[in-house]
Amino acid sequence: MPSFRFASEFGSPPAAEARAPGRVNLIGEHTDYSGGLALPVAVSLETRVSVRFRSDRTVRGVSRERGAARAELHAPAAGDWLDHVRGVAQELLRARRIPARGFDVAVAGDVPEDAGLSSSAALAVASAYALAGAAGARFREHERADVAELAHRAETGFVGVPCGIMDQYAIACGEPGCALLLDCARVELRPVRLPEELTLLVVDTGVRRELRDGDYQERVAECQRAREQASSALGRPLANLSELRVEELPGLAGALDPLALRRARHVTSENQRVERFARALEAGDLEAAGRSLYESHESLARDYEVSWPEADLLVEASRDLAGVLGARMTGAGWGGCTLHLVRSPHQRDCAAALCAHLERARSAPVRCFQLSAVGGAELL
Ligand code: GLA
Repeated sequence: MPSFRFASEFGSPPAAEARAPGRVNLIGEHTDYSGGLALPVAVSLETRVSVRFRSDRTVRGVSRERGAARAELHAPAAGDWLDHVRGVAQELLRARRIPARGFDVAVAGDVPEDAGLSSSAALAVASAYALAGAAGARFREHERADVAELAHRAETGFVGVPCGIMDQYAIACGEPGCALLLDCARVELRPVRLPEELTLLVVDTGVRRELRDGDYQERVAECQRAREQASSALGRPLANLSELRVEELPGLAGALDPLALRRARHVTSENQRVERFARALEAGDLEAAGRSLYESHESLARDYEVSWPEADLLVEASRDLAGVLGARMTGAGWGGCTLHLVRSPHQRDCAAALCAHLERARSAPVRCFQLSAVGGAELL
């Protein structure tokens, strides 16, 4: 793990090491930047970051998965993985939490990259804990939301991805055994306990697309357009698209262009599904919860157009498997993972069947994770 790598790469041990989990979003996809609801879980995959400050202004990074990178502390973003660490360092500098010095950083972990499981946010949040720890200014328990906010600012500012707040909050504030019901307009969190008999099965389809590629930005812009068109048609300014109710959409059919209407239909109906899903989980009605997942997938595929063939294949295959309650793509889309909610003890058979299904279609090995809900990031 990184502390060993750190010593062999940089000649002596790190001053601090931190870990951050990955996250799986159960439901509420592409709602966070529209002020909607999401229900992510911090999961049992992790990124570890170890750090030691230097006497100059150079930042040197090694990552088992991402390779080596180097930059000056105040240089602009370079488009590589070190940006996520340097962006966080800029925020910590602004908050006077770390000294204006370069640092050495080693990263390792098992959160697959660009797979919709938030490897970038895990790197950013773990970096915040490690950097503050190395500077002797460790974050306290009550500062978890502050860490999420600063990692989010680093991502939207320095890195330049206009993402919502879901990933950083899930990773900084995760609770063992729980999903987090996140209201992204009010920025409020409520833990929702996951029933014991539920297994989160995640299949990595092996298809990749980076958030920097531009499709994500396009969806964010389309939602802005939908909000503006709806605001002028209603004669009241909407602060975000989630202030619209799904029932209001038929009345706006002529006012929104067809594409904006479909994007708005996804966001508004997805918000409802998050509420229904959380209620069903709390009532122990796992069948109803599972149905919401299938509906979410359909909406993401048809109205939001972010699914991809391998995900559609796995979601369809799930419908015939004993023990699968529901399935959908998870994360931003255009590649990455599918989530399958499975009732114990069917998880092993389901995993084998889904992998075999995809391997036949892709003729490449497929990775499948059985994940549990864990606590948020921490300094080790
Ligand atoms: C990415 C972003 C999140 C969120 C999801 C889609 O993970 O980082 O903020 O928008 O996509 O739900």
